[in-house]
Formats: sequence, C-alpha cells, structure tokens
Amino acid sequence: MAMEGVEEVFLRTDYCGNLRLKDEGRVVTVIGWVSKRRNLGSLLFIDLRDREGYVQVCVKTDEINVPEIRNEYILEVTGVVTKKDVPNKNLATGEIEVVATNIKVINTANQPPISTQEETDANEDIRLKYRYLDLRRLCMQKRLRIRAKIVRSIHEYLDSKDFIEIETPYLSPSTPEGARDYLVPSRVHKGCFYALPQSPQLFKQMLMVSGFERYYQIARCFRDEDLRADRQPDFTQVDVETSFLNQDQILTLGEELCAKVFKDVLNIDVKLPLRRMDYLEAVNKYGSDKPDTRYTLYLTDVKDILKDSDFKVYQDNKYIKAIKVDGFAKELSRKKQDQINLTAPKFNMKQFGFLKYENGALEGSVTKFLSEEIKSKLVERLELKENDAVIIATSNILRDVNFGLGAVRVNLAKELGLVKPNTYDLLWVVHFPLFEKSEETGEITPCHHPFTRPCDEDLDKLFTEPYNVYSYAYDIVINGYEAGGGSLRIYDQDVQEKIFKVLGFTQEDIQNKFGFFVESLKYGTPPHGGFALGLDRLSMILSGTDNIRDVIAFPKNLAATDPVTNAPYEVDPEQLDNLGICIKKED
Ligand code: AMO
Repeated sequence: MAMEGVEEVFLRTDYCGNLRLKDEGRVVTVIGWVSKRRNLGSLLFIDLRDREGYVQVCVKTDEINVPEIRNEYILEVTGVVTKKDVPNKNLATGEIEVVATNIKVINTANQPPISTQEETDANEDIRLKYRYLDLRRLCMQKRLRIRAKIVRSIHEYLDSKDFIEIETPYLSPSTPEGARDYLVPSRVHKGCFYALPQSPQLFKQMLMVSGFERYYQIARCFRDEDLRADRQPDFTQVDVETSFLNQDQILTLGEELCAKVFKDVLNIDVKLPLRRMDYLEAVNKYGSDKPDTRYTLYLTDVKDILKDSDFKVYQDNKYIKAIKVDGFAKELSRKKQDQINLTAPKFNMKQFGFLKYENGALEGSVTKFLSEEIKSKLVERLELKENDAVIIATSNILRDVNFGLGAVRVNLAKELGLVKPNTYDLLWVVHFPLFEKSEETGEITPCHHPFTRPCDEDLDKLFTEPYNVYSYAYDIVINGYEAGGGSLRIYDQDVQEKIFKVLGFTQEDIQNKFGFFVESLKYGTPPHGGFALGLDRLSMILSGTDNIRDVIAFPKNLAATDPVTNAPYEVDPEQLDNLGICIKKED
C-alpha cells in the first residue's frame, strides 16, 4: 500500500477483460477486484474482474510470494499471458490465463454484504441498499454503458441536425404535465416554493419564442406520482423542440433519432418510416394507446351479435368485445379464469366472460343464453378453431372494455411467450384526443397538456363535443412501452383562450399558473412543436430489462426512497426554522 508522501504509480498495461489469445506470451500488468478464488494447494486460481470483464490469474504458490487474498480485494498482478489447455467457453478471455509473477494488494475489502457474482438471487431491496456493490456486476455495468452509448448517439444525431443544447432551470414554477410537483422551499422568500420541473415544457416553448428554432436538452424531470416498473420520481428526458416544422417532419426527426440509436447501440436496422397508427385503431384493436404489435390477440367487437342473446348483461351493456386465444381452451381452467378476473375491477368490471370451442361446440357458463344462430355467428366472426378460447369484456364505458381486454392481452402474451426475445417493434400512435375525463375528479382535463394544438378540422367542436376533438399529439411506442411523446403547440392566441375556457380556467387561474407563459406567446410566436423521449425507458428497452431501476445507477425504490442514502429524511429543526417551515405531526 502507498507510503505516506509518495505518490502511488499504477502499472496497468491492459484491462483484465480485454486479454485474448493474440496476447499470448506478453508480460502484462492488470488491476482488478478478486471475484473468486480456487485454492488447489500449489496452484491458486483467481478470477480477477475489472470494468471490461474477468480474467483467470494462475498463481504457482511455491514459486512467488503470495500475500493474503480475499474476495473483493484489489490486486495488481503482473504475469505472462498463457494459452490454457482447456478453454473456459463462458469467459471472453477463456482461452488464456495470466500466470502471475508478482501480486500486489492495492486495497483490502470487508466481506461484501451482497454477492457481486453475475447471477444473484439477492432481493432487490438489499441490492439497492448496497448499490455501489451491485453495480460491480458486469451485467449492471453493461446496462449503464448502453445508456451512455444512447446518450452519445443522441448528441451526435441532434448536433448533426443543427440542434442547440440549452439548459433550463430546475428551480422553477410548476409545469403542467399532470403529476404532483416536488416542491422546494425558498429560504429568501419564506412561505414561497419552487417546483422541480415535471418537464422543461414551458421553457422550451419560450425558447421557440426567442427564435432558437431547434432546441434540445437531456433534462432531469421530477414527478411525484405512483411508481411502477417503468416509472421513477426523478427521470431523464431527451427533450426536443422545433419551429416551422409540421407534424410529419417532427415525427421523421424523432424516428430517425431512434433508428440511429438502435443502429449505434444494438446494430439493428430499424425500417423507416415507422408505421403511424391512429389512436382509435390502437385502443379499439389492441386495447391500449401503447400497443405491442408483435402479436395478434386482437380485440373484436361482438356487441351486434350478443345483443340478441337472452343474457341480460349482454342486452344492457353498450359495449361487448372479445379476444380469441388460439389453442387455449384446455388451459382456461376455473383457476386461470379467476386469475384473469383479478384484472377486471381495475376497469370497473366484475368479471370477464369465458368461452371455449371444444368438440366443435361453444362451451361456457353463458352458452345457455345463446341461440345456435348466435353461437355460429360468434364462431364465424372470431374465426374459431378447435380448442380456441374466447375472453369477453362487457361495459357501458368503451374505454373500460378496451383497456380491460388490453391488459388481459398483454398478460396473456407474456404468459404464452407470444413475444420473440430480441425483437423490436416501433411505431407512432397519432391523433390523440385533446381532452379526457380525469379519473380522480371526473372533470375535463387535457390528455397531454393545455398547450397541445387541436386538429384544425375539430376546432368547431371545442365547446359542443370536446371529447371528440382530436389533437396533433403523438407517442412513440416501442415494444408496448410509451418511449416518448409530443405534440404541435398552439400558437394562436384565440385558440389558446378557447382551450382554457373549455378547461374551466378563470383569468385568475391562468395568471397564477402560467401567466408569464401566456404573456410570452403574445410577441410573435412561431408555429412550433416537439417531443420528449424517456431516456430511462429507452435504455431499459435496449438493455432487454423490464425494470427501469436496472438502468439507473442510484434509483429510488417503489416507496420513492433512495435505499443507499435513505433519502428522504427528517431535517434539523434549525434548517426548518430557516425556511419558516413547521411540520404538522400526524396523529
Ligand atoms: P410526457 O409526459 O409524455 O411528455 O413524457 C415524455 C416521456 O417521458 C417518459 N416519462 C417517464 N419516464 C420515467 N418515469 C416517469 N415517471 C416518466 N414520466 C414520463 C416517458 C414519456 O413518453 N413535455 C412533454 C413532451 C412534449 O410534449 O414535448 C412530456 O413531458 O417515456
């Protein structure tokens, strides 16, 4: 170890993981962490790991001085690259080993509380607590490198298209993306708060007013919302805004950007242009606004057939749709039906209906209400074959029928292995509705945000049929994930006023929430639009994981805490005092 006052010199010639048969005979010095040891008496084998991979070090213990070595010690090993008699096919360096001539311990290590081996069954909580050790695993390093490659590729593409990278504030006013804000109290202005940006939306639009024309930023965003496997409270967007481009030109930019990322990172050629699917087709056929089109299991409308049955539920409900599952009749046991039904309440349904086509006949609890004619129409409409199963959703709300069956579709596809691994499905979903009914309040709210431009042909419906007004809003969907989204923005003052009116905003609301922004739009706003890609989601998809935490070095857990640092935590009373804040104790 280093002597005081003497600067240590590391003599590394190569990374462990980069050595190959071509290096045979070379004297090398490698530095790495001890991953595994096998002591065979006069021979000691060490798997040494660095950022590039593992190499086996062979130590002839009778011939050289061997210090005490334990797992996760850092060693500097000098030795000769030697061809192995029996290669290890599991290692990229498996054809060679380094026969040590000198070993120096650079640092010792305590026994690690979690395994640093590639395969681990440690639960995620403990892995997140000791994240810095979990990240030693090469599979984790690989994911973060994929993320870094994506970022590099994005910078290259946008730079080549003359985009200017501009930062916008983190201590900012609230931005209207529909989630709760993370607030930051101001010490100088007691009782006043900044909000961390849910996105740079308002600032990037103001940059268009300023005339930058092509802006981008890899921006951290903060949203206090219910967490899921593909959501984090602080996450990163590739945020883009342009002026004087129409929707199709913006989609072209977005898809070229994604195609370059796929090529640079996975060497996959994405066929352009991407398919543009109308929102209504996505929800009606796939039961989702982020459809995975790698498998069928389409939703089929069967209301016109089943309305004539004697089953009251089918007579009373406005919407009945079905999906056919090929060859699934035998597996659709009572237990399986109960399992599928667990999804129903989330979509305000008591249960789904189930039918099986066996021995040339439709079977199921409701078949007694179905005439032969209805049954044969169903068989024909759904193109049923022997052993097919049918899952039926019924409701007076079309959204519940569609999204309920859509959820069943996704779960079944996973369970039945309908998705081929390492296949990628990219498409745009376009023509989103402008408004939706808030699930929480039942009130009309923007689907995207209040600055999204309504389709010109729907402007006359703004006050009469607001839910039938569509917009120039689009999402890019990859493998069933919403990987990004954007829209053209309103640049016409009159239209903006009307949207605020439909949303029931008073002049006071507008002034308080985004008066500064509305003011900025009065000084010659260019027609503009843009999009934001979710960098974490993109990294997750390209690394082949379905857990967003796998591609973030220090993520929050599902309770929005950081298990390494234990943030958030209580602060000193003095700090609160400085901020003029008093915490209300819960009873
Ligand atoms: P939107 O809210 O659709 O649009 O966000 C854009 C993309 O960001 C990703 N994303 C998230 N990723 C991880 N965790 C989260 N909590 C999270 N929330 C969103 C998604 C999503 O598609 N300002 C607009 C964009 C625009 O109009 O230009 C916006 O933020 O991949």
